[in-house]
Amino acid sequence: MDFKDLVAKRRSIRKFTDEELTPEQTQTILRAALMSPTSKSTRAWRFIVVDDKDLLRQIAQSKSAGAEFVQTAPLAVVVLMDTDATDVWVEDASIAAVSMQYQAAELGLGSCWAQLRLRGHLDGITADECLRDIFGYPEQFKAECVIAFGHPAIERKLQDESKLKWESVSINKFE
Ligand SMILES: Cc1cc2nc3c(=O)[nH]c(=O)nc-3n(C[C@H](O)[C@H](O)[C@H](O)COP(=O)(O)O)c2cc1C
Repeated sequence: MDFKDLVAKRRSIRKFTDEELTPEQTQTILRAALMSPTSKSTRAWRFIVVDDKDLLRQIAQSKSAGAEFVQTAPLAVVVLMDTDATDVWVEDASIAAVSMQYQAAELGLGSCWAQLRLRGHLDGITADECLRDIFGYPEQFKAECVIAFGHPAIERKLQDESKLKWESVSINKFE
């Protein structure tokens, strides 16, 4: 599949079958993250690959809403960044995360992003604090997101070419 088709095919998938990913699929997805560009080539990420059902459930509950699908996935990758190593860690983490999503789509797998940074519970406990409790990572590391992966249990349409916001693109001026 060429990249032009891949970008239309990638859609967020939040329902997965019980089929596990193969070790090769998991490795290929992580390879895409580890090859992703970073500012000044700092590569200050950490990726926690999670396939333990109880841990997936705990991650799904690390914010009040919007991460429920993580507990139904066979695998998820928590994207952490060393915030002492780079001031643009949000960008570096996001690029790695979306690189994994495109690689998953190319493998015929589904994925969905669950936002962790700036998210949490109504009582003020952040998703990052919940994950720090679970995994015990040091203070300078921060969680950006978790990406759930699996075999799609639903089919989603390709991106709709007719709905692309071409009006948000301008040439040589702001419009
Ligand atoms: C920065 C970011 C945060 C997101 N956070 C969540 C989330 O917490 N929960 C969720 O279900 N989807 C989340 N998504 C997925 C979006 O809802 C999804 O990409 C959007 O609806 C467009 O659909 P598509 O990915 O199928 O094109 C997030 C996506 C991005 C890029």
